[in-house]
Amino acid sequence: MSLLIKNITHLYTPLHGLKYGQLNHITNCHLYIINQKITKISKGNDFPDAEMVINAKGQVVLPGFIDAHTHPIFWMTREGEFIMRIQGKSYEEIAAAGGGIRNSVRRFREASKEDLIEVTKKRITRFFEYGTTTIEAKSGYGLSFDDEIKSLEIIKELNNEQNLEMISTFLGAHEIPDEYQSDRAAYINLIKKKMIPYIAKNNLAQFCDVFCEKGVYTVEESRDILRTAMEFDLKPRIHADELNAFGGAELAGELKAVTADHLVRTSDAGIKAMAENGVIPVLLPGTTFFLRKDQYAPARKMIDAGCRPAVATDFNPGSSATQNIQLMWSIASLKMGLLPEELLWSTTLIPAQSLMLDKKIGSIEVGKQADLVILDIPNLEYLPYNYGMNNTAYTIKKGEIVYKR
Ligand code: NIG
Ligand code: FE
Repeated sequence: MSLLIKNITHLYTPLHGLKYGQLNHITNCHLYIINQKITKISKGNDFPDAEMVINAKGQVVLPGFIDAHTHPIFWMTREGEFIMRIQGKSYEEIAAAGGGIRNSVRRFREASKEDLIEVTKKRITRFFEYGTTTIEAKSGYGLSFDDEIKSLEIIKELNNEQNLEMISTFLGAHEIPDEYQSDRAAYINLIKKKMIPYIAKNNLAQFCDVFCEKGVYTVEESRDILRTAMEFDLKPRIHADELNAFGGAELAGELKAVTADHLVRTSDAGIKAMAENGVIPVLLPGTTFFLRKDQYAPARKMIDAGCRPAVATDFNPGSSATQNIQLMWSIASLKMGLLPEELLWSTTLIPAQSLMLDKKIGSIEVGKQADLVILDIPNLEYLPYNYGMNNTAYTIKKGEIVYKR
């Protein structure tokens, strides 16, 4: 299979070796794909014949977006809680009253694997619509041995039968499930002794995450769970400092976690710990927006300290009900002061790094997998500017057209 994308007005890509925010920008070029790989980028009359040709005149070509933080395996949505927030209840109040994640856990346990697979397939199509070609996908709505395994098996099975790459993260420590509310130690023991060993042995996840937060998992409990995961070669990611400055970023530094995510309330010491230990901050501006909070993660402070952040949707039924990474560009520019050149890094090569896939995806280079998005926009700046719109003309995954407007 060969595919030629002709007359590209603007091609933008980050590259290893460039500084964060610096892009390789090629105008009026052609990009040639054979099978799953980019084989040539050329200019002028220099382009080979191909079985399929796309004319990208007046358009922008970018690496396919990589969404480094999603919770896509859930049953039923939570618009009722959304209305409660509009009426003045906070996310924390709703969770403390037994709603929130525990609400989704009760729903998830009622759903069959077949039904969950069907609904997840629909969500996969929606990711392609917005130009997303790879996601990190967390479990975390099962919170029992069988239901967490069910979640991770769905990710594994769907990876084998469709094109969106889903990199799985075990998030058994997303909440304390109802039946363990009075014995949290027993649940943590179940995670450490039964879930983690089984998941590692059966290759069901590459990463392990913990919701380290006041009222959820303490820093000590998070450390304990993640240390066990690391012994089984599951790499740590942490939901850190989302609602309170809680020491999550400091813990991420101590464990040399791959990522620390949310980071709305992170202290200067937390930022320093991440910068010194190569932790990638994953910023989720949609969540702050959707939870009606005023304070956004201090992105510029992190960048000035030497961190290179990823920006992701946090797609989930409670705190960020969107799959639109292009909207994250708009919120991150308006509320965090990130520039388009920085946002391209933060939604392609840096998330690829956070998934340890940056040799294969995340930039447009000869030899790399052909994961691309063609946007019907005149230049890069237009993408966050034209907020809330979907400007995808084509999404290409492994050299195949998976979405066409
Ligand atoms: O990343 N913060 C914890 N977990 C999710 C919320 C999940 C939910 O509310 O269902 C998050 O925002
Ligand atoms: Fe999350």
